[in-house]
Amino acid sequence: MPTHNISYDAHPSPAALSAEDQELLEAAKGALPNSYSPYSNFQVAAAARLEDGTVVTGWNTENAAYPMCICAEPATLAAAASQRPGMPVVAMAITVKSANHVLDQPASPCGSCRQQLHEHESRFGTKMKLILRGESGPVFVFESAGDILPFGFSGKLL
Ligand code: THU
Repeated sequence: MPTHNISYDAHPSPAALSAEDQELLEAAKGALPNSYSPYSNFQVAAAARLEDGTVVTGWNTENAAYPMCICAEPATLAAAASQRPGMPVVAMAITVKSANHVLDQPASPCGSCRQQLHEHESRFGTKMKLILRGESGPVFVFESAGDILPFGFSGKLL
């Protein structure tokens, strides 16, 4: 039977990351208070590092009509596209904070976000490293956003 394996690093703390990846995670953490999440009380923020080293942040923005909520990941991709049109995002740190409990584990991007991250990689033919952390606890690092979307929909089919 065919199998699909995913490999990733699970570091006990951010101290194991390179200086630039630690900075990216700090930038995401610093953006958490910008989250507009009065309905879920669940803040999500991301920091993208672009090919030229620019760091751009984004966060989730909710709406009283719940399906219109904007996740942090596509908000960050859109912010990056506005600031540096046509430039790929080479790494994205994503972190979360709940008003209800301390999240001591990373939160995985939702399916819609994964598809959008995957599209970014296919569009530019580049890989986007993902650095995920909760409020505390381990840091998961995936070398490519595509790693967390096996069998993602491909525009090559259209
Ligand atoms: N959210 C994100 O920003 N990214 C994800 O990948 C999953 C969920 C947001 C949407 C909503 O504002 C809150 O988290 C709770 O679902």
